[in-house]
Amino acid sequence: MHLSSLSPYCFRNLSPGSITFSPGLNFIFGKNGQGKSNILEAVSLLSTTTSFRTKRSSDLTTWGKDECSVAGIVSQDGTIFELLVTLQHGRRSAFVNGDRLKRLSDFVGKLPAVTFSPNDLELIKGGPGERRAFLDRYCSFLYPQYFESLSRLHQITRSKAALLKENPSSLSALQSWNELFAEEAFTVASFRRLFISDLEPGAQIVHRRYASNDGSLELRLVSQLLHESGAVKSRQEILNDLSAVHQRERAAAKVLYGPQRDDIEIFLNEKSSRSFASQGQSRSLVLSLLMSVLELLRAKNGDYPILLLDDVESELDHGRRNDFFTALLDHGCQTIVTGTERAEFSISNQLLDQASYYVVEAGEVCQIDSKN
Ligand SMILES: Nc1ncnc2c1ncn2[C@@H]1O[C@H](COP(=O)(O)OP(=O)(O)O)[C@@H](O)[C@H]1O
Ligand SMILES: [Mg+2]
Repeated sequence: MHLSSLSPYCFRNLSPGSITFSPGLNFIFGKNGQGKSNILEAVSLLSTTTSFRTKRSSDLTTWGKDECSVAGIVSQDGTIFELLVTLQHGRRSAFVNGDRLKRLSDFVGKLPAVTFSPNDLELIKGGPGERRAFLDRYCSFLYPQYFESLSRLHQITRSKAALLKENPSSLSALQSWNELFAEEAFTVASFRRLFISDLEPGAQIVHRRYASNDGSLELRLVSQLLHESGAVKSRQEILNDLSAVHQRERAAAKVLYGPQRDDIEIFLNEKSSRSFASQGQSRSLVLSLLMSVLELLRAKNGDYPILLLDDVESELDHGRRNDFFTALLDHGCQTIVTGTERAEFSISNQLLDQASYYVVEAGEVCQIDSKN
């Protein structure tokens, strides 16, 4: 599968028009602040209907405009389809071949993309929200039911939170929300647990290959919805927990229990990487996790997802970067890379021959000859 063209409209600072991509490696160069990351962000919108940089979708529309859109043509096994995401006053709509989809969950997964950006160090060093965003992004690609359950869980949690604030004595209404909550929370927790147990062995293999000196990598899902053993609690056990926390929730006027408090513990040599991993070690951990995600997506779809590498030279040191690129070539992934200078990519001639090059300046993207 590959994205053969991308057409942003009123998206950040990007000029309207189409960018044609090669099915292999694509390098986007430009000085800082020209729109390189914005291009990857536009691809991310087509992939997940969200940005990998911001939760505020209003940030994505060109200043002074009310709406924006991103369209893309995807080629997969000889078929071609068009994806379109529009944002109007923060409202997202998604279309496939011109037909609007009722549920965003039917759209997410059509163009799986794995993003590797400087922000990803937050996966190791940032708060639990960063790691939940990672879970949500990739579980949504892997398990279509996950995205739907998560969306419903968000709605239920908002309604329950509003009730706890406004009318905490309404016990029967709270009980009804808790029943709906338990159902979706069970599904979300089950998929998160499955994802972590599938992710860990692949990440360990990559980590041993690229960062053998750093030591061992281990993952653990931390959740109120898991037993000590790591097994997911049943719906009834979740309901019992909700009853047990009921008085505290009413007193605090807040939702205190659920997957919205989950986290992933990432251990390096049995120590918390959040507290102890160095910058270089953290980068290798992220690389290993994302490479494992790539393999899980390939196993599910029979095809690698698109790889988006933002600011690649700031991400990987030279030796590891070369190994990484070579591995990607072996995989046949379509890859879109951004960087400030072409000269900084020290990859093989074979890789360079297959690549397409673009320069972006003030939001204007031009394809350039590779020999330049
Ligand atoms: N909503 C927006 N409307 C117009 N321009 C924007 C918007 N958001 C960001 N920009 C501009 O986009 C540029 C940053 O683009 P970015 O892709 O992050 O740069 P880089 O090439 O360094 O990756 C800045 O010039 C910024 O002013
Ligand atoms: Mg950037």
